[in-house]
Amino acid sequence: MLLGAVAIGGCGAQSTLDTHSRPAREIADLWWWMLAAAVVVLLGAIALLAVGWRQRHHAGLIGLGRLERHTTGLVVTFGILVPLIVVTAVFAIANFSVASVTNAPAVGSTSMTIDVTGHQWFWEVRYPGRGVVTANEIHIPVGTRINAVLRTADVIHSFWVPSLNRKADMIPGYPNRILLYADKPGVYRGQCAEFCGIEHANMATTVIAESAARFKAWLAHNAQPAASPVTPQQRAGLRVFEASSCASCHTIAGTPAHGEIGPDLTHVGGRTTLAALTIPNTPAQMRDWILHPQRIKPGNRMPDLALTAPDADALVAYLESLR
Ligand code: CUA
Repeated sequence: MLLGAVAIGGCGAQSTLDTHSRPAREIADLWWWMLAAAVVVLLGAIALLAVGWRQRHHAGLIGLGRLERHTTGLVVTFGILVPLIVVTAVFAIANFSVASVTNAPAVGSTSMTIDVTGHQWFWEVRYPGRGVVTANEIHIPVGTRINAVLRTADVIHSFWVPSLNRKADMIPGYPNRILLYADKPGVYRGQCAEFCGIEHANMATTVIAESAARFKAWLAHNAQPAASPVTPQQRAGLRVFEASSCASCHTIAGTPAHGEIGPDLTHVGGRTTLAALTIPNTPAQMRDWILHPQRIKPGNRMPDLALTAPDADALVAYLESLR
């Protein structure tokens, strides 16, 4: 409720009331119904308070016995009958919309399956059968039903893109599924919704819904191995990557780097953010991130490699060239 109220004021990036799919609309409708019921109850309580205050003043005139009978009637009506009706109505409405929202997409009803795996603290995104692996930024075609299979590599996370659907937990050993659908092209922000450790708050994601043609082009491009370094500085950057411990944690397809602890970096230069949306992906921010990972996202798994400034510059030049 509070989240919804906050969202009214600050519409846009991540809001349960800025809905772009049927499940999200049903959740928002339920919220509006509950708000309406709460307003009616609040106004009723205020009205009763006013009546009670008036009665007290007239107690002397009508006699205490009559007043008590009157009060018992009010208590039975507004303390038992009305709450019973309100709670039953909200329960019925909630049951109706929750039933249609909680169901995973029926087998065969979606056009594509993607695998999203929660890690402390980023999202690994795979497009099975297409050879595409990325992180944190999930591209989907607009107006297309996507079956997102949700897993975790460590603790419980919860995948939540409020404009598109409900929360869905990522539970060890128990894959969950959720429908991803956007009725309009756009960038929809999401957030891990289950406390998963010190950097839980910095575990955000975006769903980028784009036209079928743009999505196809993105998918084809991202299925390619990483671009080869062109400039001397970029070549030096690749050497730094392979010689330092970067390669033991990260994968860059087309190079010997096949680490699986951190995000896949094959096309990292083409992403708009780093560290699960913690910072924008600019050369200056990436350099800062590589040199001071624990200052930017304290507790995260990336160690400070104590690189020299020229090595850091070369590494940034190489990684930013991986479009
Ligand atoms: Cu992942 Cu909270």
